[in-house]
Amino acid sequence: MDNKSLVSIDDYTKEEILEVLTRAAEFEKNPNSNILEGKVISSLFFEPSTRTRLSFETAISRMGGKIVGFTDASSSSTTKGETLNDTIKMVSNYSDLIVMRHPIEGSARWASEVSDVPVINAGDGANQHPTQTMLDLYSIQKTQGTLENLNIFMVGDLKYGRTVHSLLMALSHFNPTFHFIAPAELEIPRAYKILMDKNNITYYEHTEFDSIINDADILYMTRVQRERFADPLEYEKVKNVYILKNDMLKDTKDNLRILHPLPRVNEIAVDVDSNPKAYYFEQALNGVYARQAIIAKALDL
Ligand code: CP
Repeated sequence: MDNKSLVSIDDYTKEEILEVLTRAAEFEKNPNSNILEGKVISSLFFEPSTRTRLSFETAISRMGGKIVGFTDASSSSTTKGETLNDTIKMVSNYSDLIVMRHPIEGSARWASEVSDVPVINAGDGANQHPTQTMLDLYSIQKTQGTLENLNIFMVGDLKYGRTVHSLLMALSHFNPTFHFIAPAELEIPRAYKILMDKNNITYYEHTEFDSIINDADILYMTRVQRERFADPLEYEKVKNVYILKNDMLKDTKDNLRILHPLPRVNEIAVDVDSNPKAYYFEQALNGVYARQAIIAKALDL
């Protein structure tokens, strides 16, 4: 119903992306305010989360708002057979904004169409994770000084990784060169290749990892999404296919930064954590400021 919702990163124009990034920088300088005083925000997590949920909660708390919701759908009336439609109708009566994570692709769009208040998609299945994208862009801009003309290497589960899908769509505004590194089973879906072709974005696909990252400005590592595999044996085949180790970074560019939406499983060895090019924990902190800016925009504050 509401055009203030953020369901897909496509809901923001390039200008809106830049506006939200500028606002995020302001929130980073002054994170504490009362601009959400009197506002109630629903946080509906039908799927597990650490960073997204807690950074939204931190963002709301730092802005003086109140949070209602659930962290586990098994504690909601979903278990009694209530539909998503009815849950959203109810919750939109209680609050000024809904933040929702759900395992089904398209659920966030559905929710935004039945809700009377804006809906922010905190991840819908393997589809989209637009708020993660905004914190990724904020992290890239902070570390590179620009979003334009960068060499972006994305590694791992490019099929099911919703953060990859949202990020490549957003970066397509900024003339990137993409390198996609994935096993054949987890390659980037065809729909995204068509989109890049349409936008004249240069991209290369690789299955080898070790020797090709020296030109990267951003190395975006991802976890193989075990929860999206129907067959556990298929997951076992690919789960450890790429592991970034510290010695692989010795000839990489000085400005390289390693991002990962987290959680990490095995794909970044812990010896990388102390390398100055590792940025994934700072990236997660940036999520608070990016989400403050997204909430402010959704509520016209
Ligand atoms: N990056 C991310 O979405 O992490 P969580 O699943 O912990 O929220």
